[in-house]
Amino acid sequence: RLVPTILCGGAGSRLWPVSREQHPKPFIRLADGQSLLQKAFLRGAELNGVDEILTVTNRELFFKTEDEYREINQAKLATSYILEPFGRNTAAAIAAAALHISKKHGPDTLMLVLAADHLIADQAAFEQAVSEAIALAKREKIVTFGIQPDAPETGYGYIEASGNKVLRFVEKPSLATAQTYLDSGNFLWNSGMFCFMAGTILQAMEQHCPEILASTKVCMEQSRIAQADGFSQLELDADSFAAIPDNSIDYAVMEKSNHVAVVPCDIGWNDIGSWDSLGNLTVPDEQGNRLDGQTMLHKVENCYIQSKGRMVGVVGVSNLIIVDTPDALLVVDKSHTQDVKHIYAALKAKG
Ligand code: GDD
Ligand code: MG
Repeated sequence: RLVPTILCGGAGSRLWPVSREQHPKPFIRLADGQSLLQKAFLRGAELNGVDEILTVTNRELFFKTEDEYREINQAKLATSYILEPFGRNTAAAIAAAALHISKKHGPDTLMLVLAADHLIADQAAFEQAVSEAIALAKREKIVTFGIQPDAPETGYGYIEASGNKVLRFVEKPSLATAQTYLDSGNFLWNSGMFCFMAGTILQAMEQHCPEILASTKVCMEQSRIAQADGFSQLELDADSFAAIPDNSIDYAVMEKSNHVAVVPCDIGWNDIGSWDSLGNLTVPDEQGNRLDGQTMLHKVENCYIQSKGRMVGVVGVSNLIIVDTPDALLVVDKSHTQDVKHIYAALKAKG
């Protein structure tokens, strides 16, 4: 059995003002009308032999998520949820999911961890990569999916690989280090998706982050399951959840374990990390402008402009990203899209 496990958390602060705490990045809808979250669901649902999708997300997002799934869940797959009172990062989310699946279906059950906020253009290539990953996972590997890097991105994990073998996993290196990795030609980006048997990841956590595993176990014992029409939800107990150390699976396990393997793949992966990558999904006009919504331009080049309500007039500028929403306007130079998170953080601190 293979259970796709969707991790949906994190506000996507670099996509402010469209991504917010109550409307995070996975809910952003693309031009085809589907949200990133719906695309993640379908990505898992279309795999062979899948009859259930597990989602780990914030309890505030449960109804919104179930609504999104119902819109596209033609195959009527069972949807199950682990609901968090707040974010405790991916190690806790994956530990809870693996404990849950191991108890429900047994420790040999395969899990495919999917991010809720990625795009994968080539589903056939993705399915091929997943079947390679399954073969490795059955041999007790913790399988990552490696993407050919084309820039020294510092927001990704880097995998030094030789075939399926992982020599080294380095999460979020400095720019200088990322550049040497890129130049060496031996490194892949970690896509943020993983495949393993539930028992394999639990064993690795026991070895490399026993506090996280132990405190997640305590939390699971304090938590209760509710069953309803077509879905089940495990709501995590807030007090014991707060006691779980905050760490990502990449630092907690991937950097440390020597059971990590990689499937190099070319699947049209896009992490939609910033306005730059989101804007690039819109087809440019002759001036290189990518437009979404009502705009009037004069002597404008190479801009991305999104407006969901008002008419936006723009004159005599280039290389800008302009995003207008009913209560907030973002203007950012294309070379600074990673820094939008500072606006988000400052606004959050202000309350
Ligand atoms: N349920 C839940 N709870 N989900 C979470 C939480 C949490 O507390 N924190 C993050 N997530 C979800 C995010 O919504 C996303 O789908 C996924 O887990 C990864 O988290 P990110 O916060 O987006 O991680 P990242 O982008 O910094 O880094 C990861 O992804 C990169 C590729 O996009 C790492 O795995 C990197 O190594 C990787 O290169
Ligand atoms: Mg991410």
